[in-house]
Amino acid sequence: MATTILNHPLIEHKLTIMRNKETGTKEFRQNLDEIAMLMAYEVTKGLPLKNIEIVTPICPMTGKQLVRPIILVPILRAGLGLVEGFKTIIPTAKVGHIGMARNEETLEPEEYYAKFPACLDEADVIVVDPMLATGGSACAALQNIKKRGAKYIKLACLVAAPEGIEMIEKNHPDVDLIVAALDEKLNEKGYIVPGLGDAGDRLFGTDD
Ligand code: PRP
Ligand code: URA
Repeated sequence: MATTILNHPLIEHKLTIMRNKETGTKEFRQNLDEIAMLMAYEVTKGLPLKNIEIVTPICPMTGKQLVRPIILVPILRAGLGLVEGFKTIIPTAKVGHIGMARNEETLEPEEYYAKFPACLDEADVIVVDPMLATGGSACAALQNIKKRGAKYIKLACLVAAPEGIEMIEKNHPDVDLIVAALDEKLNEKGYIVPGLGDAGDRLFGTDD
């Protein structure tokens, strides 16, 4: 499967506002919400369709319908910031949640919460998280979602480091990865450079 870097002018403009450390919680959230809508359009481009017969006011025709239902899966917490925007574009989407946190002793990401709609195995699953840094959280989340039966999976991230992309491509070659912006590198604390800082803290105002 493929990795796509969007490099979309509107997204880059809005992302620059988010990256600015002077940007406060309200504007940060608003821009993430707007970017999520643009990303939803791009992420769903390749979804499979089937033919259905309908009748327009003029004549019968063969129309198109999505083959599978769509399930959004935000990785908690910061992934929640992308959900409303995606739901605006895909209002019928169901939402599953997965919480990943790093164990301070093992340094491995561990799942601390999970709740999914029943049809995970039949759905197009779009996992969302603004940040793909080392790739550890997303990689573990994908593994756990697959264990629960998900088969058709896309991972959508706002900002990625090369290390995170490599991790997903190596461990989940069957997952389509869509990234809005590819940054330079990780710093010694595992933050994306130049990045936008701690996405969850900036989104929920826990960075004071
Ligand atoms: C952030 C982000 C990703 C993870 C990326 O979450 O939302 O889930 O870090 O880092 P990684 O690629 O190195 O795993 P964080 O762990 O800060 O939790 P939060 O969303 O609750 O703030
Ligand atoms: N998590 C974040 O929120 N930001 C980073 O830069 C890396 C991990």
